[in-house]
Amino acid sequence: MPSIAHDPEHRLWVLSGPGSSYVLHLDDNHRLRGLHWGPRLTLEQAVSLLNYPAPGRRSCEDPADGTLDFDTAGAMRYAHAGVQVRFPDGVRDLETLLVEHERLDHADGSTELVLRFADRHYPLALDTHYRLRPGTDVIERHLVLRHTGTATDGPVTVVRADSATWVLPRLGDYRLGQVRGQWSAETQLNRTPLPYGELVLTSRRGTTSHQANPWAMVDDGTTDEEHGAVWSCALAWSGSWRLTAQRLPTERVTLSAGFGHDPITWELAPGEELTTPLCAGAYTEGGFGAASRLWHRHVLDHVLPHPDELRPVLYNSWEATGFDIGITGQIELAEKAAALGVELFVMDDGWFGARTHDAAGLGDWTPNPDRFPDGLTPLIDRVHELGMQFGLWVEPEMVNPDSDLYRAHPDWVLHHPNRRRTEHRNQLVLNLARPDVIAWLHAQLDELVTKNAIDFLKWDMNRPFTEAGWPDAGTDPDRLWIDHVHNLYAVLDRLRADHPRLRIESCSSGGARLDLGILARTDQAWTSDNTDAVDRLAIQHGFSQLYPARVMGAWVTDSPNPYTGRSVPLDFRFHTAMTGVLGIGGDLNQWSKAELTRAADLVAAYKRVRHLVQLGEQHRLRPPGDGELTAVQFLAPDALECAVIALRCSRHFGQHDPALPLRALDPAARYRDTATGTVHHGAILLSHGLPLDLPPDDHASALVHLIREEN
Ligand code: GLA
Repeated sequence: MPSIAHDPEHRLWVLSGPGSSYVLHLDDNHRLRGLHWGPRLTLEQAVSLLNYPAPGRRSCEDPADGTLDFDTAGAMRYAHAGVQVRFPDGVRDLETLLVEHERLDHADGSTELVLRFADRHYPLALDTHYRLRPGTDVIERHLVLRHTGTATDGPVTVVRADSATWVLPRLGDYRLGQVRGQWSAETQLNRTPLPYGELVLTSRRGTTSHQANPWAMVDDGTTDEEHGAVWSCALAWSGSWRLTAQRLPTERVTLSAGFGHDPITWELAPGEELTTPLCAGAYTEGGFGAASRLWHRHVLDHVLPHPDELRPVLYNSWEATGFDIGITGQIELAEKAAALGVELFVMDDGWFGARTHDAAGLGDWTPNPDRFPDGLTPLIDRVHELGMQFGLWVEPEMVNPDSDLYRAHPDWVLHHPNRRRTEHRNQLVLNLARPDVIAWLHAQLDELVTKNAIDFLKWDMNRPFTEAGWPDAGTDPDRLWIDHVHNLYAVLDRLRADHPRLRIESCSSGGARLDLGILARTDQAWTSDNTDAVDRLAIQHGFSQLYPARVMGAWVTDSPNPYTGRSVPLDFRFHTAMTGVLGIGGDLNQWSKAELTRAADLVAAYKRVRHLVQLGEQHRLRPPGDGELTAVQFLAPDALECAVIALRCSRHFGQHDPALPLRALDPAARYRDTATGTVHHGAILLSHGLPLDLPPDDHASALVHLIREEN
C-alpha cells in the first residue's frame, strides 16, 4: 500500500511507493523543498536529511534555486519557476504560505496529499496534489489555482502553471532521455548529456506533436537497460506543452512540466479555478527496462479505460485504397480480411461528404451517396456477418474550406482578423473552444454512432494549429489552446459513457497524439504512418520506452512499402507488427494465395501469444541498432510462459546470430518451445540464452513461444 507519513514538528512529508520515496519539507520561509527522490525511506530516516549541511551560500544567488518542489517565481531566485503569474497591478512575485494540508483516501486504495497554499497578500490560492496508487512507485501530481477575490479585484494572469516540478538528487552527472521525431519518423529515442542551462522540450502546435513527446527520463550517464537508477516524468496532456529540464551551475537539476507553451497565458477571473493536467513521475532501479515496465504497468493499471481487454487484430483499408473507396471494394477487402482471422475491419478516410480527395468534404459527416447509396448499414452488416467488428475513420476537429460546413460557418475555424488562414493538407482547424462548435461536433459523432452499429472510431487529427485566434472571444483568446483539449476530452468522455461498447483509436497524422491524457480516453494509438517494418523497429523501440505494446497499433502492409519503397519479407513484416497490437493494412487483392495462407498462420500465431504481448512484461533483449539482431521478450506476469520475437535486418561477416539470454524466468524450471517441442532449462535460457535458427538472408525473423513445463 502506498503511504504518506507526516512529521508535523519538522514539517516534513514522506510519500512512499513499494520501492521509492519522495520527501517534501516546508522550510521556515514556507518554501516547499524536494528533499529526496530515490530509494524508500522511513520517516525517521527522512528527518535525518534535515541535519545535512545546507549548501554554501554564495553571493548573488539563493541556494534554494533548483531545490523547490512547488516553485513559485519571486525573490532572489532566477531558475525556471514552475508557477508564474501576473497580478492586475503588475506584480509578478508570489509569496505563498501553507494554509492547510490534507490527506485524502480514495476508494481505489490510492492516497493523496494536498498542500494548500495562498498568496500572503493577493487573492490567489494554489493547491498542489500528490496521488499515490497501490502497487506502483508512480506519483501523480497536479496543481489547482483559484482566484479567491471579488469582481473588483480584476483577473490574475497565469503565465506558467507547471503541473509538477521534480527535484532530482545530486548525481555525478546527468543524462536526459527523450524521444524526438517527425511525421513518419516518430518516437526516436535520444539520450544526451544534460547541458547546463534550461533544455526545453515543447510542442507549440496545439497537439502533442510528432517532434517531441511529453516525457523525460534522467540518469547519471551509467544506467543501461538492466542496471541503474532512472528518474522519469510524463505529462498527461494532448495539446501544447512544455517540459523544462534544468541543470544549474550549482548541480541542482529539476524537471518541470505543464500544459501550454510560451507565450500562452490564461486569465483567471475572480472565483475561477484552473486545474492543470496530471504530471506523473517515478524513481526506479533496474535500468531503463525496469523504468519502462513500471510505466507500462501504470498505463495498464491506472490510465487505460479497458486495460484487461485484449485488442483485436484489425484490418485498415487506407494503404490499400487511399481515397478510392466504395461499398463493393470494401466488402471484398472485408471478406479477405475475415479469412485471415481479422477481428475488426476499419474503413478509413473517403467515405463521407465530397471526400474523394483530401481537398474536400472534411466537416460533412454523412456517407457519400455515390459510394454508399444506402448508407453505411449494408457494409456494417456484412462486416458483422463475417464475424468482425466495424470501425470507421473520422477527423472531427477539422474542416476543408470546400465543405458545406465551412460554407455555412467560416467563423468556426481558428483564425485571426487581418491574417491569412494557412491551410495544411487543404484543411483548417475547428475552434473547439467555442461552445457551438463543440456542441455540433458531439452531436455529429453521437448521431453517427447511434444510427450505425459502429464498434470503433479511428479519431484522426491531421494538422497543427496556425493563426490560433478567436476574434469574438472577448479578452482572452489564448484560452482556446487549453479549452480545445478540455472540450475534446469532454466529448470523448461523453461518447464513451453514452456508448459503452465503443472503442477509440487515437491518431494524428500517425503518432502526433500519443500521451497519457489521450490514453485515458482511448484504447490504442496509431504509432506512425510509416509502416516500413525496418523503420518501425526504431519507432517502436522509442514508443516502448514509456508506452506499452497494448496501445501500439502496428500494421503489416505491402512490399515494397508504398512510402519507403523497401521490400521486406512477409514474416519480418508480421513479426515486427506482432510486438504491438497487430493490424493488417496492405492491399489484400494484391497478395498471392501463398501470402494469404501464410498471413492467416501468422495471425493465428499472434493470437496465441497476444495476451503476453499486450498484457505481459516487456523485456527489450537487444535494441535495434546496427541492423543485426534485435529482440523483445514478453513474459506472463506469473512467468509461466513467454514469447520472444527476434528480428535481424542483415548479417555481418557471416557471423551466426548470438543466442538470446532471456529475462525473469525461473532458473529451476524447464520451458518447452511450442513449435518445435524442444525443452530448455530456465537456468540455461537465462545465462547462455535461447539459441536461434534464423536463415542467413536479410530480414530474417522468428517468434518463439515458450511454456513452462509441469514438474
Ligand atoms: C492520416 C492517418 C492515416 C490515414 C490518413 C487518412 O494521415 O495517419 O492513417 O488515416 O490520415 O487521410
